[in-house]
Amino acid sequence: MCMVSGCAKAQNMDDKKVLIVYLSRTNNTKAIAEIIHQQAGGKLVALELQSPYPANYQETVAQVAKENETGYLPPLKTKVENIEQYDIIFVGFPTWGMQLPPPMKSFLYQYNLAGKTIIPFNTNAGYGIGSTFQTVRSLCPKSKVLEGFTMKGGIERDGQLLVIKGDNLIKAQAEVKKWLAKLPLNISNNGR
Ligand SMILES: Cc1cc2nc3c(=O)[nH]c(=O)nc-3n(C[C@H](O)[C@H](O)[C@H](O)COP(=O)(O)O)c2cc1C
Repeated sequence: MCMVSGCAKAQNMDDKKVLIVYLSRTNNTKAIAEIIHQQAGGKLVALELQSPYPANYQETVAQVAKENETGYLPPLKTKVENIEQYDIIFVGFPTWGMQLPPPMKSFLYQYNLAGKTIIPFNTNAGYGIGSTFQTVRSLCPKSKVLEGFTMKGGIERDGQLLVIKGDNLIKAQAEVKKWLAKLPLNISNNGR
């Protein structure tokens, strides 16, 4: 029995277990993941690779292009325990080469997400989501994929790394709140 005010929302949220999985290289997508976590609760998990990408941007672009071409799925170091316990899974990623980054493809291939609600979110350098959201849909054919969130992040190519900070972070918090409130979830604005 809940004894605090605002209990009805908390109750709804407790009914649904939330997982937030994200890939982030320069921390913009991580900033959005943390905002979602503050507003929706749940468990926050960063995707890490067994063999990390090079620190060098151009080398990473070249490696990702090759992986996309061959369909290589980089093995993940991150393991999600008992994924079957989660009802709602937010999946966050940058746009890489106008596609879903290979590590997120690895994640979506590796776990059985049938019957779950999947919610994508993205940051990019200003060229948009590309095919990322569409690929999430096609890799989760037995899930309910809801409307995603996207926001401009950094431009690593030009040395612009984390930009979702300061005033931009405040703007991001407001935009995420608006987006979550529109989703049929009963988890937004729960006061966390
Ligand atoms: C390998 C690589 C490829 C990228 N390709 C694109 C792209 O096709 N379109 C785009 O808008 N941004 C592209 N970007 C920029 C990132 O999407 C953008 O900086 C994003 O905010 C980074 O998120 P993060 O800080 O969470 O890593 C690319 C970045 C990297 C590292």
